Amino acid sequence: MSALQRIIRPELAHIAPYGVPRNAAPTKLDANECAFPLSEAAREKIAERVASIPWHRYPDPRATELRACLAARYGGTPDEYVVGSGSDELIALLISVCSGTRNPGTPPAVLYPTPTFVMYGIIARTQGWRAIEVPLTDAWQLDPGRTRDALAKHAPNLVFLASPNSPTGNELDLAFMSQLIAEFPDTLFVIDRAYAPFSSRRAWGEPPSKAARLPENLAILNTLSKIGMAAARIGCVRMPEGLAVELNKVRLPFNLSQVAQEVGVLALTELRMEIDACVEQILAERRRLAEGLSDLGFASAPSDANFLWTDTGQESAELARRLREEGVGVRSFSQGRLARHVRITVGTAAENDELLRQLRRV
Ligand SMILES: Cc1ncc(COP(=O)(O)O)c(C=O)c1O
Repeated sequence: MSALQRIIRPELAHIAPYGVPRNAAPTKLDANECAFPLSEAAREKIAERVASIPWHRYPDPRATELRACLAARYGGTPDEYVVGSGSDELIALLISVCSGTRNPGTPPAVLYPTPTFVMYGIIARTQGWRAIEVPLTDAWQLDPGRTRDALAKHAPNLVFLASPNSPTGNELDLAFMSQLIAEFPDTLFVIDRAYAPFSSRRAWGEPPSKAARLPENLAILNTLSKIGMAAARIGCVRMPEGLAVELNKVRLPFNLSQVAQEVGVLALTELRMEIDACVEQILAERRRLAEGLSDLGFASAPSDANFLWTDTGQESAELARRLREEGVGVRSFSQGRLARHVRITVGTAAENDELLRQLRRV
């Protein structure tokens, strides 16, 4: 055994680092980013605000103004919010704060349906947790029987439910999620609303009104990444205040730079109209792209997100490779029942046209 093997946690040896292709394709439709860059006017506003930061001081460790804006936008009170450097950081913090042992002799467990956002499993495994995966049904919905059984059997500390889900693009069954939250009060349910701005169910329906109290075991994750601010890394989680207090104990005090805080405030206030207009354009392009793909014989599942989950009827990894050679990046999946699908981020009109043109060619 080498010195390195003795020093690092053994489970890390079996985990590959998160990989992102080094050279982005010119037509980049593989990362579920917002298609539209910010306007010049918005950039100027940001530059002005960032220039006035007291650069010699540490950032506001409580992100006071940003949390107030988040509460105004997503409901609840500022004290129910914890902010992070993207929702990725909050996923890691949630995992670290809920790591108590349930079953003596077995590591804590996280449960999530598959396919879904890969970071739930990656972060859990890097922390030495068990990752319990419950396959979605053929309609990409939660499987009530298998999900309940797995919850009863494994008593996971945490359940992650991305709704709308990635890569499948659909909302998960709200009534069933609400039942689970009530039936398993000792498990923290994290509903990930990263793609909510593009959903027909835009407002989170649990609790029913913005001001209503959250169930004790519910956390709602959000991010500004999908609405044009991915570079700034701004995520938040809304949860009952008592839980937020605990999460703040494991959060590093200056985890969100003042630059990110100022950009977040602007995005939620002065830039909100521009961002909302971008979302509308993405929704219109989503319809047009789905029709264009359908004309080529590719069926896409109904989408509540800024991407399409498209059945290509063939080995999608090979198709994605050929598209990439032509300068178009889409996301393919090699495993089993996902192998015919691609996940295509909705681009600008020109990008979507380029994808359709190259698809026709290859
Ligand atoms: C479902 C879901 N949640 C969270 C994230 C991560 O978002 P952030 O950029 O805020 O870390 C992604 C990113 O693709 C995602 O698909």
